[in-house]
Amino acid sequence: MSALFTPLKLGTIVIPNRIGMAALTRNRATGTIPTDVMREHYLQRAQGGAGLIVTDAVLVSRQGTEWQDAPGLWDQAQVEGWKKIVDAVHGAGSKIYAQLWHTGRVSHPEAPQQILAGVPVYAPSAISARGGKFRFIPGAPGYVTPTELPDPKTVVALFKEAAVNAKKAGFDGIEFHGANGYLIHQFLDSSSNHRTDEYGGSVENRARFVLELIAAVQDVFGPDVAIKLSPCGGYNDMGMPLSETIATFGYLLAQIDALPTPLSYVCLALYNPYLDIELEGTMRGTTHDVLQTYKGYFKSKPRRTKLFLNSGIQPDQAETFVGDGEGDVAGIFFGLAWIAHPDLAKRIQANKPIDNAVDLTKLYGAPGVDPNLGYNDYKAAV
Ligand code: PHB
Repeated sequence: MSALFTPLKLGTIVIPNRIGMAALTRNRATGTIPTDVMREHYLQRAQGGAGLIVTDAVLVSRQGTEWQDAPGLWDQAQVEGWKKIVDAVHGAGSKIYAQLWHTGRVSHPEAPQQILAGVPVYAPSAISARGGKFRFIPGAPGYVTPTELPDPKTVVALFKEAAVNAKKAGFDGIEFHGANGYLIHQFLDSSSNHRTDEYGGSVENRARFVLELIAAVQDVFGPDVAIKLSPCGGYNDMGMPLSETIATFGYLLAQIDALPTPLSYVCLALYNPYLDIELEGTMRGTTHDVLQTYKGYFKSKPRRTKLFLNSGIQPDQAETFVGDGEGDVAGIFFGLAWIAHPDLAKRIQANKPIDNAVDLTKLYGAPGVDPNLGYNDYKAAV
């Protein structure tokens, strides 16, 4: 029996296999409202055997978006759009978590939703990310210097409200987007967090924001709360020296492992050059072996928090990670492979080739282009 196809208890649910679909922000909402095109996309992947689907990154407020058509979860129309998606996924026998997102300093004052929000681009500190990639703002505006967020608890409240809305929509759980240089990561990283209050400085202080978020959302979702982290940094100008990286993420994982209510899982992204950036001739990320470095910070026995890995992992490696006999890795999230293979889990189970190429030019859609293209038109083989 393949280790990948053994059921797994996660919080209050049981998933039928260890093959997750990672959040893949594809920009197919209308404004911020989830659409039937998105419903079709998720339904295809639920039918394709996904053990657990994590949604596109879902914005918790208009403020903190770099996107034109990323979905949100702060009003009733969004709840109704998501409910249709959740019901379709459940109808096909799969489970679905909402990934909650705030982009912090990598939003832009000219992003459509940020304009509507009527507030500045907030971040832990007034430190700009280098680079910039605003797909829907003409020209190449680059990142701005953000405004220091006066009171992080206001954003904790936004996440909690989004979680309440996720509950109304019927989601099975919440995954925090704590990776890839967005707001949560910006608080953790000393290169973007120079605060002098209790949310900055020491490792304990930089981890405070995310631990407060976890507590607030667990009030709503109990044991069905998870987080994704990318300790290697890179993307969105994120990263610390190696010893500080290990001290920061090691501390956070040890705190998570000891929470009164455990998280359902932690997903750690491995180093992946695809999510690193080159700055001044060097790669920004802090390359290290994520599994070997951090697995020892989960000290509880039996392990209270399941560990998933993600990023650039091939199916045969996935089987090795999960079936190594040590029990360190409970499951794997695949990303791009799910875009091009709506039946990815079924293909892996049936030993069918994973051979559809992803059309990167159609990944994000574009105004005036049929949103199904490069999204709902990949063919199933099983
Ligand atoms: C992206 O903008 O391509 C993107 C969004 C969210 C991520 C990673 C990449 O976590």
